[in-house]
Formats: sequence, structure tokens, C-alpha cells
Amino acid sequence: MIVVISIGGSVLGDKPDSERFREYAGAIKEIAAQHTVFIVTGGGAIAREYIQIARELGENEAVCDLIGIDLTRLNARLLISALSGDANPTPPLDYKEAESAVSSGKIVVMGGVIPGQTTDATAAVLAEFVRADLLLNATSVDGVYTTDPRSDPSAKKLNKITPEQLVEIVMKTEMRAGAESVLDPLAAKIIERSKIPTIVLNGSNPKNIVDVVLRNKHVGTEIRSSCKK
Ligand code: UTP
Repeated sequence: MIVVISIGGSVLGDKPDSERFREYAGAIKEIAAQHTVFIVTGGGAIAREYIQIARELGENEAVCDLIGIDLTRLNARLLISALSGDANPTPPLDYKEAESAVSSGKIVVMGGVIPGQTTDATAAVLAEFVRADLLLNATSVDGVYTTDPRSDPSAKKLNKITPEQLVEIVMKTEMRAGAESVLDPLAAKIIERSKIPTIVLNGSNPKNIVDVVLRNKHVGTEIRSSCKK
């Protein structure tokens, strides 16, 4: 099976921590022993800090996005270091490069690719590009909620939704560099058109990622269309 895993910067920790990278590397190696794995790392709090400073310095959103991308690639580099010889040595800069890199049999780890999106969308397009069987979005919340649980106490977690429902929920998200939402709107639209089975889950514990891929066990949100194209 080909699996694309988007690991949100928020789950990698507020500050880079070698132990945390080691834990994720261990989990990813376990999955890669049985499947072809692509990882897309987010930028998290540090990316947002850099973006905020660039904004204060008068940069436009596209430049802020480019700075965000650099930070996601730094996280990719740290994860590659933690995976030592098991990963492709550098983060591919685009989808084509990622596809060629995986032919070496190594785990491919990359960050963002172009302004105007987040690594959720990078992972969704990559999943479409490499014809992945499963897209996992490991984030710091338990799944997709009816509304944002951080600001709405009446928000309810959804266990199973269609890509169309996902699009409807995330379209309410603000679109700017470093914006916070469970999944970016572009990612949702890509999931809708590609119909790739997707699971959004709490990835704060790397064991959850292993459980979902190897044991089909999770308490997140499954996004699946009733009819496959
Ligand atoms: P992230 O994917 O980490 O965004 O990329 P995020 O919203 O912080 O995601 P989580 O919450 O950690 O999962 C950091 C920033 O880098 C830019 C965007 O500005 C994004 O907010 N970026 C990332 C791009 O412009 N293009 C990409 O392909 C990826």
C-alpha cells in the first residue's frame, strides 16, 4: 500500500526536540517495513513565529508563505536525520522529485511546495500524484468537528464524513499564511476530486499513526466517498 502521511508541525512540538523526532521516526520505520511511505511535515508554531515577523516587516502573504515553506523543510530535514539511512537524504522540492525519490526504496520526507496552501494540501496533491491508497492527516485535534472546537464548545466530532461534507466544513476557514484549521480548503477540494480514502486523526502520539495504518484502528475522522470514481 502507498501511504502519504501529513504530520502537522503542531504535533512535532512547539520547539524542535530530538526525542520527539526520534519517536516519530520509530513509528514511521514500523510502517515503512510493510508499506511505501511519503511524509509531509508541517512548520508548526515556529513557522507561525517567522511568518508573523515577516508580516511585521511589511512582507506580503506570498513571501510569508515562502518563509513558512522553508520552515516546513527544516522539519523535514530533522525527521530525515532521525530516520538516518532509511530516508531519502534531502526533502524533494516538488511532487515529481518525490515520486522519483521513492524509487530508491527509501522513505520520502518533504515540506511544502508552493505559496497559497499548507502542507495538508501538499500531502493531498502528493497522494493524488503518487496514487496513494491512503492519506493520513496527523494533527493536534481528534478529527474533524462540526465547527472549531477551540472556539465553539458545542462543536461535535464527526467519525465518518464524505469529501463533500469536509469541503463544506473547511470552506469557512480564513485563508492567510500560518492560518490554523484542521485541514486547509485546497486539501479538502483535492480529497474531494481524487476520492483518496483519508483519515484525520490526533497524531500527538506517534503510536496512533502506526495503529491506523497497520491495525486499521483509530478514533479520528474517516473521509470516504460512498462511490469511488
Ligand atoms: P503548515 O502546513 O505547517 O501550516 O505550513 P499550518 O497551518 O501551520 O499547519 P499545522 O497546523 O502545523 O498542521 C506553514 C506555513 O507555510 C506555508 C503557509 O503559509 C503555511 O501556513 N506553506 C506551507 C505554503 O505556503 N505552501 C505549502 O505548500 C506549505
